[in-house]
Amino acid sequence: MILTSARLTIRLFRAADAPTLADYRSDPEVARYQGWSTPFPVDAAVKMIAEMTDPTAPGWFQYAVEHNGAVIGDVGVNTHENLMQADLAYTFAPAHQGHGYATEAVGRMVQHLFTDRGLHRVSAECDARNERSAKLLARLGFRQEGLRLQHTWIKGEWTDDLLFGLLAADFEP
Ligand SMILES: CC(C)(COP(=O)(O)OP(=O)(O)OC[C@H]1O[C@@H](n2cnc3c(N)ncnc32)[C@H](O)[C@@H]1OP(=O)(O)O)[C@@H](O)C(=O)NCCC(=O)NCCS
Repeated sequence: MILTSARLTIRLFRAADAPTLADYRSDPEVARYQGWSTPFPVDAAVKMIAEMTDPTAPGWFQYAVEHNGAVIGDVGVNTHENLMQADLAYTFAPAHQGHGYATEAVGRMVQHLFTDRGLHRVSAECDARNERSAKLLARLGFRQEGLRLQHTWIKGEWTDDLLFGLLAADFEP
């Protein structure tokens, strides 16, 4: 499966992408509000890529985001068991942040999920301190639906989670 937008290609990860994936996921700033700890070994990246076989099956599927032939980040889709809704996640290499690529990639993925896969709803959540993530979701029209105080124990502390959602009926391509 390949999706394109003005500047980007969204495609399946390949085994050869593992070193790049491991490199940007090993950056402590990139991992700060994420579930993994650093470094993120190449072995873990190889395993993660090998596990991604069916994008439409329930569970997480990570897509590679490419710009000018190089992988610059990933967009994850967690399809619900009911196949009618999904959660989103996204991670971009520091050198490729601040250019609108993440918003463009996530927006293209949302369009794909609503238009091609017919989902009813897409959700996302982020650490309440992760302003750039919250801004990205707001830019794409996600509604902030809640704030769960000290809901997640991660990296030795309780963290607050912001909850976001977008309904197919509210989506403006
Ligand atoms: C969350 C994350 C993807 C957001 O990245 P980002 O760089 O802020 O988002 P974008 O790539 O969409 O870039 C948007 C910025 O580029 C700017 N920009 C520059 N050129 C642009 C262009 N041509 N088009 C659009 N925006 C452009 C925008 O103004 C915006 O900057 P601002 O927020 O200061 O206003 C990134 O911070 C990240 O990967 N963090 C680590 C992983 C993480 O925490 N993921 C989320 C877990 S919930």
